[in-house]
Amino acid sequence: MDNYVLKPFSLDALEHVVKLSLERQNLARENVNLKESLALYRASEALEAPLELSEYLEMVLNIAVGELGGHSAHLVLFTGSQEKRKVEERIDLNPSMDTDSLIDDAMIQLAATLENESGAVVITDYENLGPLMALPLRAGGDLVGLLAVQRRLASQKFTPAQAKALSIIGSGAAVAIKNARLYNSLQEQYLGAIRALVTAVEAKDPFTRGHSEKTAHYAQMIAREIEAGQDIEDGMRVAGLLHDAGKIGVPESILLKKGPLTDEEYEIIKGHVIMSARIAGPLPLPENVLHAISEHHEMLDGSGYPDGLAGDEISLSSRLIAVVDIYDALTSDRVYRDRTTPEHAFGELGKMVREGKIDGDLVEVLRKLVVEGKMGQDGQSSSSFLSIE
Ligand SMILES: [Fe+2]
Repeated sequence: MDNYVLKPFSLDALEHVVKLSLERQNLARENVNLKESLALYRASEALEAPLELSEYLEMVLNIAVGELGGHSAHLVLFTGSQEKRKVEERIDLNPSMDTDSLIDDAMIQLAATLENESGAVVITDYENLGPLMALPLRAGGDLVGLLAVQRRLASQKFTPAQAKALSIIGSGAAVAIKNARLYNSLQEQYLGAIRALVTAVEAKDPFTRGHSEKTAHYAQMIAREIEAGQDIEDGMRVAGLLHDAGKIGVPESILLKKGPLTDEEYEIIKGHVIMSARIAGPLPLPENVLHAISEHHEMLDGSGYPDGLAGDEISLSSRLIAVVDIYDALTSDRVYRDRTTPEHAFGELGKMVREGKIDGDLVEVLRKLVVEGKMGQDGQSSSSFLSIE
């Protein structure tokens, strides 16, 4: 009733109604702003949380559906150029189509129609997807993904405030996608540089060729098996590759010597650990990786080098690299001896466990994986390992 002025009307009554209408308009505008702020707040809150990209995108999708009152939704990441666009990753919420390829195709087509759009677009019906609001996700001008939220009924209209909210949520997601890709490509380049360095080291000694890759692979597999966490698992890759990089500083005359080493030569060989740590030091590596590199010849009883650390002073990552380093060294040919069988290698490792030098639990995990044939490179089983009891 407040919006009506009854005849005959007074100026006061008219003024009152106009004021009331203006206040309502302001309130509605504030409500829109508040919704935008809330969406922004939720999206930024999610961005700050230490999440994997896929977890973050799932959160974005849920926030978007909540804000828009959607029934189902898709968040798609693309690779490739405009003409050869492919779905790299897709997260669905109550998918409206039966098969993955149908959704992928619909999203690729939808992205093509939104090629020149920057904000959220309402589409009344598209490829039987029903009424939806779609937002192209852009990073640096490139269309990297698509966020599409659908409603069950065509009668449910999307509001301009919801379009704004989706744009805000989507811009956060686009930044996260761009950062994650940048990070991954940096990681790849970085690992490529490390591999080049390791190849240079191993070129000096053909007998140790592949040792770093195998150490990295074995250590990663054990870390996964014991559920040490993604950080340790990833760290084992880099630590395995880099642990012997310092051998680049050891003269070939010592590295390739067939006879027994003199005390002095042995000291020079031992120096490779400090050199490896020096090479790895300036790299932006996590603590556990640096420890694993500088402590991979430390023994639990304090008899190792370079610092004679003992027991708990030696980190899990370091103990892990130590075990697989010894195992691979024993089961590979060396300039001074032929390779030994896995059975014999585990005999040697068992002896070291009894002497309190290496971690028995990790040796058992390694043995289990080898027996199960899970330690072949590329995840292939290795039949030569299957004879172990
Ligand atoms: Fe080493």
